[in-house]
Amino acid sequence: MTTPSKDNPSKVKAQREVEALRREILQHNYRYYVLDDPEIPDAEWDRLLQRLRELEAEHPDLVTSDSPTQRVGAAPAEEFAEVRHRIPMLSLDNAFADEDVLNFDRRARQRLGTEREFAYSAEPKLDGLAISVTFEDGVLVRAATRGDGTTGEDVTANVRTIASLPLRLRGRAPKLLEVRGEVFMPIAGFERMNAEAAARGDKVFVNPRNAAAGSLRQLDPRVTATRPLELFAYAVGVVEGITLPSRHSEILQQLRDWGLRVCPEARVVQGVEGCLDYYRDIGARRARLPYQIDGVVYKVDDLDAQRDLGFVSRAPRWAIAHKFPADEALTVLREVEFQVGRTGALTPVARLEPVFVGGVTVSNATLHNMDEIERKDVHIGDTVVVRRAGDVIPEVARVLPERRPAGARVPKLPECCPVCRSPIERDADAAVARCTGGYRCSAQRKEQLRHFASRRALDIEGLGEKIVDQLVEANLVAAPSDLFALDATTLAALDRMGEKSADNLRAAIDRARSTTLPRFLFALGIREVGESTAAALARHFGDLDALAAADLETVQQVPDVGPVVASRVVEFFADQNNRDELDRLRKAGVRWPAEAKREVGEQPLAGLTFVLTGTLEALSRDAAEDALRALGAKAAGSVSKKTSYLVAGADAGSKLRKAEELGVPILDEAALLRVLQTKRPPG
Ligand code: IVH
Repeated sequence: MTTPSKDNPSKVKAQREVEALRREILQHNYRYYVLDDPEIPDAEWDRLLQRLRELEAEHPDLVTSDSPTQRVGAAPAEEFAEVRHRIPMLSLDNAFADEDVLNFDRRARQRLGTEREFAYSAEPKLDGLAISVTFEDGVLVRAATRGDGTTGEDVTANVRTIASLPLRLRGRAPKLLEVRGEVFMPIAGFERMNAEAAARGDKVFVNPRNAAAGSLRQLDPRVTATRPLELFAYAVGVVEGITLPSRHSEILQQLRDWGLRVCPEARVVQGVEGCLDYYRDIGARRARLPYQIDGVVYKVDDLDAQRDLGFVSRAPRWAIAHKFPADEALTVLREVEFQVGRTGALTPVARLEPVFVGGVTVSNATLHNMDEIERKDVHIGDTVVVRRAGDVIPEVARVLPERRPAGARVPKLPECCPVCRSPIERDADAAVARCTGGYRCSAQRKEQLRHFASRRALDIEGLGEKIVDQLVEANLVAAPSDLFALDATTLAALDRMGEKSADNLRAAIDRARSTTLPRFLFALGIREVGESTAAALARHFGDLDALAAADLETVQQVPDVGPVVASRVVEFFADQNNRDELDRLRKAGVRWPAEAKREVGEQPLAGLTFVLTGTLEALSRDAAEDALRALGAKAAGSVSKKTSYLVAGADAGSKLRKAEELGVPILDEAALLRVLQTKRPPG
């Protein structure tokens, strides 16, 4: 702290203001980064920092190293100095199977001669780099990488640029405190950074961990300052001038109180079973976490027990890392083939050299569409990063252009449909290429049948993928109406079909005859007509004949139906093949109660689009979407600028992040229930 100059009143005043501003900024950072509960808008925070900058420019002698204006101070370095760790930075033993964890726990309890189960602090194992950050009298003085565990590199100038890391601790700080934690790059920031690098023609990073390492080892801290790095604290090293609490979990809380970020997923669990439950819970949510993790860490919570257990070679006996199967892996792209979807859209599929990733062997991955291939600069022969997170379809995340072999080829769109040989046409916006074969294309027929039978359409349980393939290939079913003519004997003759499952399927087909108009319209698979539009059309027209007879203008009067959707609808009903199929479906006994037509006045949510994400407690997401649609709202699957509200249930992930980025208002479940009860828009 600067000594006040008594003889200059304007200086004394400036100094008071400078100190007050720094305290205020520190406190707002704590609210924002640690509590995740900001008190003031970002612009107000900017104003405080700006005011501090002005005062420091007027009075340069008031500048201190812990001032929030001094994050990017130092000039580029020649090299990093060495730092010796007073207490070595150790590593952890790994467990891969539950049994390894059971053994670890049993050994630890045996060693302490206790039958009682331990309380463990369970934390994600962040996939970044270990870091040691030292504070003297509360002021950040040094940051060092782990190095070989004994000696690391001095990366103070770079670590200071991490915006969420305080340069001064909050509250009463010890004389000396070494904080240990992980520097990492959140996935969203990593993707943004790589996209920008690719656009400039610069090298892209293979994964967030490498990006974090590369950013931290920059000799110019101004470069590091542009990188979206974060730091989660998970332990303390050297401490002087304070008595620490007696449990690891309490130390984590103390670190938070000092203004440091601690992973919000850290929990105290009971015994080894608690550990394994935690592993499964985090594993299930792993793909939706905003940062990459490669496992979880269990630490005996009682610090006395930790001390008694001690270390073997370079790892503690009181902690273990329980690893997840890797969710990204490198492999070679052998070929790109094209799959034909329900509406004829061609999806490029990567045929890969098989690789073990996310716990399974992957040999196919999606490439989404031609634009994506171009954007990611994919060549056949490339070394690619394959990603399989949770139950998500494996995808080619990115390529490593520097490993491209001579003769690598750009994938080409085929000239005709790979299944039926009909010509290919590209949509107006050219992103999607389509087979023009329609019902003549067996791939489209199969997909249409799958859609017709799917849960949100006519919901025919037991009509799985393999069954549909057989029905189409054996020419037993050409159009959905043929399903209703199938008898149990025919079904029982199919591969993998017993008599019992044939009977069940027959019964499921019979049940599907009575449905609702929105479901039926959705099941028809009219292009651009998703569930929301199907519901709106049903409500507006009340029955199928009125809709089938409507012209373009009439269809456009339906809320939220624009000219493109309207023309798809009109085209569909103008097509004689489709009319014949509708007749056959009705003759087969498919029916629905007439829909009560609702006036616009009874649609209090007309014009609003909701996206639901995460788990809701009181009702399923499907039911919530139906209820919103019944009030005239649209329920969409992905967040965009057009989204009116995002409803975030428990464990919301990437959609929540996107909504926050776009500034879409976010509702919790309670707010959603209020909307449904009061039948009024939120707020
Ligand atoms: S505790 C003596 N906790 O894992 C125990 N480590 O092999 C020291 N890591 O290099 C580590 N998340 O960088 C601990 N929640 C966490 C962690 C964590 C990631 C890394 C750490 C270290 C490696 C251990």
